[in-house]
Amino acid sequence: MDQQAIESYAINHTTDHSKLIKELISVSEENLEHIDMLSGRLVGRLLSLLVKISGAKRVLEVGTFTGYSALTMAEALPDDGELFTCEYNERYEDIARTFFEKSEAESKVTLVMGKALETIPTISGSFDFVFIDADKINYPNYYKMILPRLEQGGIMVIDNVFWSGEVLDSESDKGKAIDELNTIIRGDNAVEQVMLPVRDGVTVLRKK
Ligand SMILES: C[S@@+](CC[C@H](N)C(=O)[O-])C[C@H]1O[C@@H](n2cnc3c(N)ncnc32)[C@H](O)[C@@H]1O
Repeated sequence: MDQQAIESYAINHTTDHSKLIKELISVSEENLEHIDMLSGRLVGRLLSLLVKISGAKRVLEVGTFTGYSALTMAEALPDDGELFTCEYNERYEDIARTFFEKSEAESKVTLVMGKALETIPTISGSFDFVFIDADKINYPNYYKMILPRLEQGGIMVIDNVFWSGEVLDSESDKGKAIDELNTIIRGDNAVEQVMLPVRDGVTVLRKK
């Protein structure tokens, strides 16, 4: 089976983005070189569905980039939902803020600038949905920091859990850090999880 062709087939049979999110993707492509950081339609629509199915109201995202996954989740939240999204690179802040302001979901979104390990403790309260998608070397630290603040029955989604296959490569620092987290999750009786071979690997877990 041609993996690239079948991934394109899956994307083409997945609900399309909103008009605003299509515009955000075009502007990101025109202005930035690291567009592959954007998690894309398969992961984006998975997040959107999970937010809706779980009835989540309070979302934490680690890694905003230009706001693609943040807006996708914010659009899926109810009117009284809240989403906190953490980013430290000011280069991406302008595009993210521009699109948050253009969105009907604007009032639900708070962009938290600074290093996420330092800013997450400044956000009060617990979360019922978490998306981890930044700073791979610290993946185990984000899990340890955030899991105690995830509500019972809450969902955590972790992107890039394959890191292009480098989780199998003991020479890769990021691969080793992600593999460490994958191993922690496998042995953690507090959660139940599935590791999906979607794009670069996505773990979806529920806190028991
Ligand atoms: C993979 S991208 C996020 C993509 C986004 N979730 C999406 O789907 O569009 C990771 C982002 O995390 C940011 N980042 C990396 N390390 C960080 C840190 N320590 N604290 C906050 N943000 C960080 C990067 O600047 C980058 O914009």
